[in-house]
Amino acid sequence: MASGITRLSGKVALVTGAAQGIGRAIAMRLAEEGAKVAIADINETGAAQTAAEIRAAGGAALAVRLDVTSLDEAIAAVQRVERELGPLDILVNNAGWDKVEPFVENTPEMWDRVIAINFRGPLNCCKAAIPGMQARGRGKIVTISSDAGRVGSMGEAVYAGCKAGLIGFSKTLARELARSNINVNVVCPGPTETALLRSAMAERPGVLDAMAKSIPMRRLGQPHDIAGAVAFFASADADYATGQVLSISGGLTMVG
Ligand SMILES: NC(=O)c1ccc[n+]([C@@H]2O[C@H](COP(=O)([O-])OP(=O)(O)OC[C@H]3O[C@@H](n4cnc5c(N)ncnc54)[C@H](O)[C@@H]3O)[C@@H](O)[C@H]2O)c1
Repeated sequence: MASGITRLSGKVALVTGAAQGIGRAIAMRLAEEGAKVAIADINETGAAQTAAEIRAAGGAALAVRLDVTSLDEAIAAVQRVERELGPLDILVNNAGWDKVEPFVENTPEMWDRVIAINFRGPLNCCKAAIPGMQARGRGKIVTISSDAGRVGSMGEAVYAGCKAGLIGFSKTLARELARSNINVNVVCPGPTETALLRSAMAERPGVLDAMAKSIPMRRLGQPHDIAGAVAFFASADADYATGQVLSISGGLTMVG
């Protein structure tokens, strides 16, 4: 779906977890709006496919291998993007993972994996991206949390804890970085039709239909629903918005 908007023309963006799902839709939307986009993912084949699709549509994209759980890899990815595409203007922390089961059944190994990807991943990417943004006196950081982090979610205790943690982390970064002209905002998807949601609900037939019925707009989110909100926060239209949390969930969660 072409947005017809070109407000990101000339900007350089790095989107983590952009090989598929919400990250892929975000990368495609940022590219449509004129950004040169790094598709950073552990899934190198998927990242290359997303990049190829963006280039085929006339955009600029670079596939970059990145495991967000590694600070060294995050630093190397930012360096490569800046070498090949130019100074990084926009960081989108999107990569995430979860396994749905009651907290009492979680193993500490599962906690470690969930925390490493969902919480530590964005810390690593911010640590890698911020020094350059501060030196240039501009930047946009958009982090994908979840409504699970705002209102909780059955079977997702540790994931929800990480996603709530990202909100506190982002609000604090927003305060620390405001004078460097770096905006830090959070987008919280509700249930959105992706591989992550389908695998999380694989053993619970009927739950997706029930979820859709409980949403005021009577449908699950689609990846492109999330992408527009991210593009807004990544653009000059959001220059005066920082430390904000926006749910995109068809009205499922209305948090004051
Ligand atoms: N789908 C939903 O219902 C939903 C709801 C709320 C929030 N979210 C959040 O949206 C984001 C995207 O989720 P999605 O549904 O598109 O998931 P997805 O599983 O479809 O895609 C996630 C992507 O992240 C990549 N990834 C996983 N671990 C990584 C790592 N260590 N380093 C780099 N890349 C890694 C995967 O390879 C994949 O390409 C996540 O942060 C997720 O928590 C999703």
